Amino acid sequence: MASSAAGCVVIVGSGLIGRSWAMLFASGGFEVKLYDIEQQQIRNALENIRKEMKLLEQAGSLKGSLSVEEQLSLISGCPSIQEAVEGAMHIQECVPEDLELKKKIFAQLDSIVDDRVILSSSTSCLMPSKLFAGLVHVKQCIVAHPVNPPYYVPLVELVPHPETAPTTVDRTHALMKKIGQCPVRVQKEMDGFVLNRLQYAIISEAWRMVEEGIVSPSDLDLVMSEGLGMRYAFIGPLETMHLNAEGMLSYCDRYSESIKRVLKTFGPIPEFSRATAEKVNQGMCLKVPDDPEHLAARRQWRDECLMRLAKLKSQVQPQ
Ligand code: NAI
Repeated sequence: MASSAAGCVVIVGSGLIGRSWAMLFASGGFEVKLYDIEQQQIRNALENIRKEMKLLEQAGSLKGSLSVEEQLSLISGCPSIQEAVEGAMHIQECVPEDLELKKKIFAQLDSIVDDRVILSSSTSCLMPSKLFAGLVHVKQCIVAHPVNPPYYVPLVELVPHPETAPTTVDRTHALMKKIGQCPVRVQKEMDGFVLNRLQYAIISEAWRMVEEGIVSPSDLDLVMSEGLGMRYAFIGPLETMHLNAEGMLSYCDRYSESIKRVLKTFGPIPEFSRATAEKVNQGMCLKVPDDPEHLAARRQWRDECLMRLAKLKSQVQPQ
């Protein structure tokens, strides 16, 4: 394994998300140490990363300026967490979404790290105030929530604990930029952070409309993939408002009453009943049967689409 002047990053948990982070950090020239409670997981991760990077190179989609072999030489497995964190600048925790397990890992890290390293969690929805409660190094703790698959979807939500130091947020923000991700600062912790709150608002209304027979499951999905989603890959909902009139103030003058009228017709939180779930499932299975082969093939197709979209975005949006 090569050492890197850029610094060393430790990944705790070498599953799906840990592997993606490892590839991203190596693409930015960082030395990466993979740790996992299961030694076999580390071996699987190293093998999987090698395969994946070779495929990316063939597709012309490998990130960063280093060659595949240079990037691979930066990544290694480490059987001991204590050894792994020695001299690290950033630790990215990627163990399963279980508060008690994550708290145990952070307590362990808290007892062995110095005052400089950043302790970051990939959690999708656990609150920093619960995750990092009582840690001596709480100022160095932050949530950096990626979006699956992180190699193709650049967003990372940075969510601080109330006692996280501003420098921790700034350093993590800079690190994410350095590896080509797009960090956003969530100013205060909030259940679901930002991405999942938006996603759940969409799921909620989608579910209600299908349940009430207003639209079929497959047509509902087309409204997003062929309508709203076409814009949202490039501009967000607020800029959409700004552009759809003569600026935001003009949009609000023209449309806020209609928006409020429609919003008042939104129903309660759906129950996600078995009956509706079966109806939606039937609709989904017409396109993608829910056996492992079809689901895996569709996920691969999705990832290829995202890879091409990422290329297109890099061409139309110079950094
Ligand atoms: P995963 O199940 O694929 O990987 C978890 C890894 O952690 C496994 O290799 C497991 O052996 C290891 N592990 C378990 N206990 C451990 C311990 N005590 N010490 C060290 N390693 C341990 O999980 P995945 O999907 O990679 O998720 C990891 C985190 O990332 C979760 O918090 C999840 O919410 C978050 N996340 C997941 C996304 C997804 O779509 N899968 C998206 C964004 C965030």
